[in-house]
Amino acid sequence: MNKIICKSRQEAARVGALIIARQIWDKPDSVLGLATGGTPVGMYAILAEMYRAGDLDFSRVTTFNLDEYYPISRENEQSYDYFMWKNLFSHINIDKSRVNLPDGGAADPLAACAEYERKIKAAGGIDLQLLGIGHNGHIAFNEPAQELSLRTGVITLTEQTIKANARFFASDEDVPKKAVSMGIGSILQARKILMLAFGEDKAPAVKKMFSGAVTTQCPATMLALHPDVTAVLDEASASML
Ligand code: PGA
Repeated sequence: MNKIICKSRQEAARVGALIIARQIWDKPDSVLGLATGGTPVGMYAILAEMYRAGDLDFSRVTTFNLDEYYPISRENEQSYDYFMWKNLFSHINIDKSRVNLPDGGAADPLAACAEYERKIKAAGGIDLQLLGIGHNGHIAFNEPAQELSLRTGVITLTEQTIKANARFFASDEDVPKKAVSMGIGSILQARKILMLAFGEDKAPAVKKMFSGAVTTQCPATMLALHPDVTAVLDEASASML
């Protein structure tokens, strides 16, 4: 795993944006795997700025998001669908028909998961997958467990994740208890992976990720099995390395 340690999270966001921009410059019809959460917000703002400046064209880009709460409607302001439009898609020239997120409102979520995997395959696979990391080492909503899902599936969130995400909701009770998430296998099939982690609170998870051992109890350690991962860190998240 490559790592780039930046002075600040602002600088790290700029480095992350340049890695995504380079991907689009090299391959204008790239398939991007995108992530939500606090971490990528600054980077998305920089990508939108690059689009406004005429430096980036998203018209041929296809996106697949990692995960979505379940159940939740697309109109719900806490949905990841809403997040992506607010923080990125409505500021760039993305073609709406090329935007994909797991369906948090599917009547048959398992069929919807299989369909999501099929769509990723039909698009030619993911060229560059963006990831954040949870305090417990989760990637997407793949929580530490005895076994990890290989494919997109329905996941029960841990108490720790519900608490971490409660900051976006009125209370802990309002956080959905389940999510639809791409699996570890879906993530590892991306051609390249870009991991962003900022802040001292992420330092223990980042340390584990670079420990050299692989364990389902820290799903991010699975990234060691991938040949092309770049972790862009600020000094605080890298402080235990
Ligand atoms: P965060 O979440 O960016 O809000 O810290 C990352 C994650 O849980 O994967």
